[in-house]
Amino acid sequence: MPKASGRLINQIRKDDPIVKYGDPVLRQIAKKVIFGAYEDLPEFTSRMLEIMYEARGVGLAAPQLGILLRVIVYDPGDSPRAIINPQIIKMSGEQLDPPEGCLSLPGLRGAVKRAYSIVCKGYDEHGKPIRIRAEDYEARIIQHETDHLDGVLFIDKAEKDSLEWISVDDEEEEGEESEEVVGTMEKTTAG
Ligand code: NI
Repeated sequence: MPKASGRLINQIRKDDPIVKYGDPVLRQIAKKVIFGAYEDLPEFTSRMLEIMYEARGVGLAAPQLGILLRVIVYDPGDSPRAIINPQIIKMSGEQLDPPEGCLSLPGLRGAVKRAYSIVCKGYDEHGKPIRIRAEDYEARIIQHETDHLDGVLFIDKAEKDSLEWISVDDEEEEGEESEEVVGTMEKTTAG
């Protein structure tokens, strides 16, 4: 099956779609999207957002679904966004909080120094050029997700003594258990 042509949505794994640490795809460089090559780009980014929300993340990059294309989606809390071929063209300032997590490294979090404000250019899912000025939390998410497109993970950049495992109870119970996870995720940036 070709990894980067035709219908993208069919290339998403049905069960457990998010690729986890250890899979070499997370360390590869994603290819730029050529508009017109994929008939279902808007549908694909919608599905990415659904998977992200189901996993209680705030960002997701296509390589995390095993698809090596430069596509990211995220939601800083107010609205969902997709950026195709994102390129950070300006970075300034610094931030260290909140700690980051990653849907491909469940249970791990750590402090990562990021630019406080950025300008990111790219395209929306319909191929229209966009330019996003972001700061603070949104800027952090975009930096985390664009790193994924170059095979870079947050653990590569985390302050060494800051990495920690979030203790999750071994019992797999519904209800109370999942609420606990939501509470944890609200304090971190998981993408
Ligand atoms: Ni991530």
